[in-house]
Order: sequence, then C-alpha cells, then structure tokens
Amino acid sequence: RDPIRVALLGAGTVGSQVARLLVERSGELAQDLGRRLELAGVACRHPGAVEAPWIDRSLLTTDLSGLCHRADIVVELMGGMEPARTMLLTAMESGASVVTANKALLAASGPELYRKAATCGVDIRFEAAVGGAMPVVRVLSESLAGDRILSLSGIVNGTTNFILDQMATQGLDFDEALDQAREEGYAEADPTADIEGRDAASKAAIMATLAFHTRVTSDDVAVQGIRRITAGDMLWAAAQGRVVKLLATVSQGEKGVAARVRPVLLPRDHPFASVHGGFNAVAIQAEAAGEIVLYGQGAGGTPTASAVMGDIVTEARNIIASGRGTSIHLGKTVPICHPDPD
Ligand code: HSE
Repeated sequence: RDPIRVALLGAGTVGSQVARLLVERSGELAQDLGRRLELAGVACRHPGAVEAPWIDRSLLTTDLSGLCHRADIVVELMGGMEPARTMLLTAMESGASVVTANKALLAASGPELYRKAATCGVDIRFEAAVGGAMPVVRVLSESLAGDRILSLSGIVNGTTNFILDQMATQGLDFDEALDQAREEGYAEADPTADIEGRDAASKAAIMATLAFHTRVTSDDVAVQGIRRITAGDMLWAAAQGRVVKLLATVSQGEKGVAARVRPVLLPRDHPFASVHGGFNAVAIQAEAAGEIVLYGQGAGGTPTASAVMGDIVTEARNIIASGRGTSIHLGKTVPICHPDPD
C-alpha cells in the first residue's frame, strides 16, 4: 500500500519535534494504522540552519508550495499570517488535509479556512493551537458537539503562567522571570504577544468560535496583559491569601458572546491557583455535561508536538477509511493481563 505522505512546513521548536516523533515512531504507527506515514519533506527558510539530526537532509526544501502539492497531509508549523495562510489554502485546494498550530492565523481567518476545507472536501485540524498538549479543541468541537456550551474560562498561556508563578514563588521581578521563561523554552522568539495577552486572546477567540459556532476574532476579545504587574503586587496578593493568574473567559449572554483576557486575583484554594509553570487549564460549563476541567502542558516543543501528532494520526485514519469518520485499527498483538481477583 502507498504510504500516507506528510509534509511539514516549519522546522522550529515544534516542527523539529513532530519530525522526530514521525521518524522515531514510524514502525509503531505503521502497525497501528496498517499504512506507513512517510515524511515527504520539511520546508523551511534556512535548511542549512536546521539542527535536528533525525531529519534526512535530502527532505529539506525551501519550496513550500511544491511540497504542499506532494502531500496527503500538510502540517503548518511556521506561524505568522503569510505565507502560512496561502500555503494552507494551496494545500487544501490540491486535495490535502491540513494540520496547523497557528493560533494567530486561526483567530484572524479561522472561519475562512474552515469553509475552504469543507468546500475542498478535506479536513483542517488544529488541536495544538490552543493549550499545547491539553486536548481542548477536540472536547469543544467533538466531545461536546451535541451539548450546549454555556461558558469557559482558563489559563491558556504557559509563558505568562510561568512568569507569574516565578514572581510569586521566587520573588523575582518581571524581567528576571521573563528571562527564565525564555531559558525554559516557553516564551516565543518574540514574547510580546504572550506578555500583552494577545496570545491568550487568539486562543480565546478560537475557543469562542468553536463553543458558540459564531465568528469570533482576536479583535473581539478585550485584552489586558501582565506587563505592569510588579513584585510588590505579588507580595500584596500573597498577603491577601490570593494568587494572580492571567485568565481567558468566554461566555454567551443575552447580548452575545463576550470574551476577555485579563489578570485576576484568585483565592489560593481556587483550582486554577495550583496550575503552575507552563501548564494550562480550562474549565468548561455545558448545559447537559455540567463542568469539565482539562489540564496539561500548554507550551513547549514536545507537548505541542504530541497534539500535532494526534491530529496527523486522526487524519491518517480518516484517509484510510476514505471517509470522514474515525476508524481505529487494532494492529497490535499485546498480551492482556487480567488482574488477580481480590
Ligand atoms: N507562547 C505560548 C504559551 C506557546 O506560552 O502558551 C503555546 O501556544
């Protein structure tokens, strides 16, 4: 059987880890899927600068568009608006399904891309765009598809959560904590969007669009970042028995959907108060399900690559089933251990 060809656009923090998982897990994945997933190419701006030794050098290319035409699944991990948007459209027009972690692009042009996927008869998947390894996109778009979501709130930016945590627990000032976030690999190359709350606003817009089936862009989100929070503010909060968290909240009221991102004071025993470091958490209120709380690593190359891999494998299953439903192939022969009866 022909392999399913996966094209990677971008070989940065996340892209290089996705390539590693695709290469390292190829045998296991082929057994699970009943078909091989082949890394068809890795497009990036400077192939010479790619350090990932697990990527075969002959797969590196600067020809984004050419690669998009040679793949069954195109995985966009470049970030930014262009050429990411054009490449996703090109890939879908040429019949490929797409996977992206591009939160800023989805927050600006998500509905246009979702429509294009429907028109082309392909899928667009973007679990990694919100919450890193925490599977919130799937819960909003699939698990709760038959319910009515009332509101959601959460910590959806690992960088600012790490910074606030370091300020509160280590007594660091803002700039020292930001330097540490950079060292830990949480902060983006330019962390302005994290600090100003715009990264969380993009994620709030994506979640609001999924939850309320209406177009919400990052411009619709009221945003306040954490840049002005001082070590003194953190001490004051601690003296009140409170912690500062950057919270994204989305709800639907009589006047429509309201989304905002802002630092809030939470009591120390609030469930979100114990979300530390680069972790994210989201609490969803749904009419029939009640409350659902998700928690997981919200940033970093490997956790985010896990979410991207989940999308690639799900899409591969769809392609194999040649339909839109998910098929599960039980390709392993693993002994089953039955626990001893008490
Ligand atoms: N910069 C983002 C964060 C990365 O800190 O959460 C994950 O989207």
